[in-house]
Amino acid sequence: MAEHLEIAAGNKAERYALLTRQIESVVAGESDQIARMANIASMIHHTFGFWWTGFYRADGNELILGPFQGPLACTRIAFGRGVCGTAWREEHTIVVPDVEQFEGHIACSSASRSEIVVPIRTNGTIIGVLDIDSRELATFDATDQEWLERIVELLVA
Ligand code: SME
Repeated sequence: MAEHLEIAAGNKAERYALLTRQIESVVAGESDQIARMANIASMIHHTFGFWWTGFYRADGNELILGPFQGPLACTRIAFGRGVCGTAWREEHTIVVPDVEQFEGHIACSSASRSEIVVPIRTNGTIIGVLDIDSRELATFDATDQEWLERIVELLVA
């Protein structure tokens, strides 16, 4: 298993391509969504060395913290609040190059500088979000968006 976590070579798209194949094989062996979230968060996090990588699950009118890797995080985020709640409300991915420029950003950690939030859709409903934080500015771009949107589809496949 350890070798699955070591994807050091290649450019970003190549690393995502290999990671995605590994995630496909891991989710194929486990149907429970929380178990899948746990391993997916770990695999993304350790592949790229992000600051915080995890899931929030939609429950009523709020998001509740799910499996994650990284430091302690806020446990509940209301619909429409922060980057996570905004991505949920708008039903699309939000890339934030500088969190200080995003009005209403929720700072779970003062070390976070940039962020990407990808909603998870099943049968037309958003069931949660994948949230990734970086300690660097402008870490995330269209390549991250494209691959992370594919990865969250595997979660509900
Ligand atoms: N920054 C997020 C909150 C979650 S933490 O980053 C883990 C937001 O603004 O929604």
